Amino acid sequence: MIRTETNFAGLRLRNPIIVSSSGLTDSAAKNRRLEEAGAGAIVLKSLLEEQILQEAYWLGNPAMYPEGSDYLVEYMREHQLGEYLRLIRESKATCTIPIIASINCWQDGEWADVAGQIEEAGADALEINILSLQTDLHYVYGSYEQRHIDILARVKRQVALPVIMKVGSNLTNPIALFNQLYANGAAGIVLFNRFYRPDIDIEKMTQTVGELFTNESDLSPVLRWIGIASAALGHMDYAASGGIHSPESVVKALLAGASAVEMCSAIYRQSPAFIGRCLQFLREWMERKGMDGIARFKGRLNMANSEGVNTFERTQFMKYFSTHR
Ligand SMILES: Cc1cc2nc3c(=O)[nH]c(=O)nc-3n(C[C@H](O)[C@H](O)[C@H](O)COP(=O)(O)O)c2cc1C
Repeated sequence: MIRTETNFAGLRLRNPIIVSSSGLTDSAAKNRRLEEAGAGAIVLKSLLEEQILQEAYWLGNPAMYPEGSDYLVEYMREHQLGEYLRLIRESKATCTIPIIASINCWQDGEWADVAGQIEEAGADALEINILSLQTDLHYVYGSYEQRHIDILARVKRQVALPVIMKVGSNLTNPIALFNQLYANGAAGIVLFNRFYRPDIDIEKMTQTVGELFTNESDLSPVLRWIGIASAALGHMDYAASGGIHSPESVVKALLAGASAVEMCSAIYRQSPAFIGRCLQFLREWMERKGMDGIARFKGRLNMANSEGVNTFERTQFMKYFSTHR
């Protein structure tokens, strides 16, 4: 019998497909439909650090936020903390799968004190997404990584629920940071979060916002770092986020060492029925390969098990340089 259950961040999931934090998960009714479509867990739309603080120091500096301050003021008005707690409670009442709350933040501060309220509202876990580009001329090397540790440690002092860290791809050595996050109590790592993509309109001569959704090629760096991390730090749980656009990519992420995948662009593009297609493919693939459970093949093709062909750590394009003329 094929079993698709998986353990991720202290949660037992009926299957490895998690709907990632986005507008897809901002209401209990939507979350119920995602559960019916087959999702193994749901990460709620994020609560922003600014919403919690209510002070919004960025108001004096609208350039801090790409959508501009008017939009954010409106957003804050509509999405207060109380409403977020209600979203957790309603989603828990409507769904049977784990509901993971999410906070977008960029600094260690008072906002972290609300983690206890999120736990009380019934969230099964909390995902923390640290969204920040480092551009300060006087930046102290390592301080961005340290901030992840400080934020995690502060949140962990407030709650007993599993805390999942969703990290960006702008880290010098993700493995060293994951090791520290593990030591400070992180239950799982999601890699990677997605920054806004800038673009330029050459006719209007303006800066514009680039592609909102990912595509299949975004998966490659995720496979690389899960492949390296799951071999180096096998006791941590990983979820792949970014570039899951086909049922095959779910299998790839698990083979690289992920315990689960988080997806959203593909569901926006293809509807929640995409989840069912991924699950059907996963079961058929497992049957074809004689795998009765996820543990049988999770990490089978990570860096430790690549039979000497370590593509994950390869950075040079020698093969392409020599054969592509
Ligand atoms: C419309 C949209 C809204 C998003 N909102 C959030 C959010 O509130 N919090 C968050 O952590 N990530 C958010 N994301 C990022 C996704 O959760 C995900 O990490 C990213 O899109 C990569 O996954 P994908 O390739 O499956 O789209 C959003 C993405 C999109 C496209």
